[in-house]
Amino acid sequence: MFPAPSYNTPPPSAHAKLACVSDEALHFTPPPRFGETHFSSYTPQHPSQEAALERVKAFVAEVSGPSAAGFRWPWQKRETSGRGLYLDGGFGVGKTHLLAAAYYASTVPEKAYLSFQELVYVVGVKGVAAAKEELGDTKLFCIDEFELDDPGNTLIVKTFLAHVFAHGGSVMTTANTPPEAQGQGRFNADDFRREIQSLAENFSVVSLEGPDYRRREHLAQLLSDAELERRLRDEAAPEPKLALAWSELLELLSRHHPIRYRDLIDRFGTLYLGGARTLAVQNDALRFVHFIDKLYDLGKGLRVSGEVALVDLFDPSYRGGAYAKKYLRCLSRLSELLEDPLTP
Ligand SMILES: Nc1ncnc2c1ncn2[C@@H]1O[C@H](COP(=O)(O)OP(=O)(O)OP(=O)(O)O)[C@@H](O)[C@H]1O
Ligand SMILES: [Mg+2]
Repeated sequence: MFPAPSYNTPPPSAHAKLACVSDEALHFTPPPRFGETHFSSYTPQHPSQEAALERVKAFVAEVSGPSAAGFRWPWQKRETSGRGLYLDGGFGVGKTHLLAAAYYASTVPEKAYLSFQELVYVVGVKGVAAAKEELGDTKLFCIDEFELDDPGNTLIVKTFLAHVFAHGGSVMTTANTPPEAQGQGRFNADDFRREIQSLAENFSVVSLEGPDYRRREHLAQLLSDAELERRLRDEAAPEPKLALAWSELLELLSRHHPIRYRDLIDRFGTLYLGGARTLAVQNDALRFVHFIDKLYDLGKGLRVSGEVALVDLFDPSYRGGAYAKKYLRCLSRLSELLEDPLTP
């Protein structure tokens, strides 16, 4: 079992520092990569995806329907608890696509789209009172990448979502793990079985199967240092271009809370990263994954040089570990990013 990553639930002593995180970092709308995502552009690649599309549409209609908006005939019983829909599946099957499309399709004005990490940040670091103030009236939460990584975020999220459901809010979420298996291998999840179970009970699970839509039969290759330099100089790519050495990036990531990675990423259009090597320290690897996830969501350009194969960016021992799915997903996203023909 691997140690829990240190960044997921910062200790109380870190809270003062985190209070300075700019609120502009949190938008509660889908990130740029999913800024124009609709049901009409989802082409199911597997019967389970066809079924998922219909379930998601029905969920949005229910949540946005007249009873959800508050109108009821006097004899109709007021429904007090909200609904939950949990999209579970491997990477690249279109879970986030459906989540963002649901957000745009919903006619409920009080809606919020955020990553699970952002939810943990808002509720855990800013405090429950601030979270209720910022998100209290929300009728539909779209939460991407639900991942219980430690007891701290389990309790925070369980408490907050119990409040949301009790007040009639609805939650749609995506994950790479079924609800009951959340936390397994990452912390002593058996000690939190009751909490995880009570979270899971709020959700209907929809499983998506099928191929990685990014269709990566092969993984992209890293560039040579000379080619990276040439591209940095000559390539037409989103500006501004930023060049960083691998060790500089790792150092930078270790100095900032992951919620701030968006601030770092917002400063460049394309990142040129030189000298990538195998990540042999689990916390470095997890921070890097989080950084790439954000960079991907924000639709930035990325070029990387290094002498290793892409798959060897992560230590081979991680492939069977508790975070294996996270690493595989990151490789799929990296591969897409590295082969992206950039347009300035
Ligand atoms: N069936 C589909 N039709 C059209 N586009 C799709 C489909 N499935 C995925 N895509 C596109 O492929 C890319 C990857 O999909 P998406 O990010 O939604 O997958 P995911 O299941 O959330 O995977 P991950 O585990 O990486 O989060 C996105 O650009 C998405 O719009
Ligand atoms: Mg996704």
